[in-house]
Amino acid sequence: MEATIVSDKSRHYPVLLKEIISIISPQYGGTFIDCTFGQGGYTKEILKFSNTKVIAIDRDIESKKIADQIKKNFADRFLFKNMKFSQLTNLKLKNENIKGVFFDLGYSLNQMKDHKKGLSFTSKGQLNMKLGLNDFSAKEVINKLSFNDLQKIFKYFGDEKDSKKIANKIIKERVKYEINTGDLVNIIDSVKKRNNSKIHKSTKVFQAIRIFVNREISELINGLINATKILKKDGVLAVVTFHSLEDKIVKYFFRSLSENKSISRYQPKITQSEPLLYMTERKPIIPSKKELNENIASRSAKLRFVIKKKNFFNFDSDIFEKFKSFIEIENIGNEL
Ligand SMILES: C[S@@+](CC[C@H](N)C(=O)[O-])C[C@H]1O[C@@H](n2cnc3c(N)ncnc32)[C@H](O)[C@@H]1O
Repeated sequence: MEATIVSDKSRHYPVLLKEIISIISPQYGGTFIDCTFGQGGYTKEILKFSNTKVIAIDRDIESKKIADQIKKNFADRFLFKNMKFSQLTNLKLKNENIKGVFFDLGYSLNQMKDHKKGLSFTSKGQLNMKLGLNDFSAKEVINKLSFNDLQKIFKYFGDEKDSKKIANKIIKERVKYEINTGDLVNIIDSVKKRNNSKIHKSTKVFQAIRIFVNREISELINGLINATKILKKDGVLAVVTFHSLEDKIVKYFFRSLSENKSISRYQPKITQSEPLLYMTERKPIIPSKKELNENIASRSAKLRFVIKKKNFFNFDSDIFEKFKSFIEIENIGNEL
C-alpha cells in the first residue's frame, strides 16, 4: 500500500527541484547562477557536485543568513550577492564558464509568513510587500495613488474584475484613516459579492500590489535579457513561474528568440542563421502528482527552459514593445 504523504506546511519546498537539476546537469561541472536564492534549495543541490560553483543572488537581505551558513562549507565555490536579478550584468564574470542561469519566481514560504513584509492578506499590521531594494511600499500605493491608477493595477496585474469598485471604496475610506492590511481585506470583502470560487476574495488584489511594488514585470524582462547575455554557448536558461503573466513573458521571450521568422509569409522562407536560443520542449514542465501531494503551493508552477546556441552578448528582442502596456503601469510607481 502506498504511504500517504502529508505536506509539512511550515517549511519551504524547492519547487520542481529534480526537474531543474536534470535540465541544468551540474554533474558535468561549471558555474551556475541562482537568480532567486531564497532558502538555497537549488544552490545546495548543485553544490553537492564538487566541480561546480554557484553565484547566488536575492533581493531579500534575509537570504544572506542562509547564504552565510553555506559559505562556511563552500567558501571557494559559493558567492552570494544581495541584489536584483535585473542587474545581473553588474556581476563580475569575466572568466566564468556560465553553464546555467535559473529563476524560481514567486516568494518563499518564509517571506509569505513574515508579517512585517505583509505579502499575504493574512498578515497583521501595516501594508508593505517590499521584498528588498524597493523604492516604495504597498502602503504608499494604496494611500496615495489615484482611482485610475489603482484600478489599472488591480485589473491588469490581478485580473480583478471588480477593480473599479475596489479602487473607489479605497479612495472613500482613506480620507477617514490610513489603510492597513486588515482594512484592505475588509474593503475588498465589503465590495465583492459572495462567490463560490475557492480562492479568497483578496487574492487577486494582493497579487496585483505585490507585482506593482516589486516591479516584477520589468525585473523579469531585464532578468531574462541579462541572463541570456551572460550565458555561454550551450548553457541553459530555466525559469519557474507562478502566474499567467510571468509565464506569458517567459514563453514569448523563449519562442521569439528560438524561431527563424520569414520576412513575409507569402515569400519562400529565406535561409537564416541558427536562432540564438533552442527550445527542446514547447510545453512547460509541471509538478508531478507526488510533488503536489507534498507541497500544494507548487500547483501553479510551470518550468520552461532554453539552450543558448551562440556566444553572442548583444541581440535584439522586441519583448519590451510586446509588454509595453504592463511596463507603463509599473512606471506609475515613478510618481511615488
Ligand atoms: C520562490 S523563492 C526561491 C526559492 C529557492 N529556489 C529555494 O529553493 O529556496 C523566490 C526568491 O526570489 C527572490 N526574488 C524575487 N524577485 C527578485 C529579483 N527581482 N531579484 C532578486 N531576487 C528576487 C525573492 O526574494 C525570493 O527569495
